[in-house]
Amino acid sequence: MKEIFERVSIRRFQDKEVPKEALLNVLRAAMAAPSAGNQQPWEFYIVTDRKRIEALAAATPYSGCAKGAPAVIAAAYREALWAPAYAQIDMSIAMENLWLACGEEGLGGVWLGIAPLEDRMRTVEEILSLPEGQRAFALFPIGYPAETRAQQDRFDLSRVHFL
Ligand SMILES: Cc1cc2nc3c(=O)[nH]c(=O)nc-3n(C[C@H](O)[C@H](O)[C@H](O)COP(=O)(O)O)c2cc1C
Repeated sequence: MKEIFERVSIRRFQDKEVPKEALLNVLRAAMAAPSAGNQQPWEFYIVTDRKRIEALAAATPYSGCAKGAPAVIAAAYREALWAPAYAQIDMSIAMENLWLACGEEGLGGVWLGIAPLEDRMRTVEEILSLPEGQRAFALFPIGYPAETRAQQDRFDLSRVHFL
């Protein structure tokens, strides 16, 4: 529960490289996610090339913070699936796992929404030169945090309904 209640969006990063092992650890957590029919639709791209990161930062009006990150994890999904209608739901679960796993590595990041907005998906697919049959899902700039914040308490008993 600690990771759940301490997770926050991190948009400012220290100028410090993230070891490959730490990146693979958070992706191990992402791929531990359940998926419809266990179809595991994900493909993850670890982007450290500065030119590509800058292009991703400019890909949407709300992705500028990626510019200051040492790496951006771009999450994509395959279209040829057993249950394609569930792909974006599967990806969301994997993204949350990834985000929660950052805490243990001392890392931080933020989900930058790409899917389901078709224009953003196409832009990111072009920047990453994704192969045919893969769709861009989300971006996740990741690094050692240069900001700290407590999570907002969003528990609201009035949203709980007992029938
Ligand atoms: C599907 C999704 C898309 C998001 N897209 C963006 C985004 O494009 N840019 C951004 O700065 N934050 C984005 N966020 C982060 C949210 O703004 C953030 O999670 C929310 O304000 C709650 O803050 P917290 O993560 O610190 O608890 C996104 C989060 C989700 C779940």
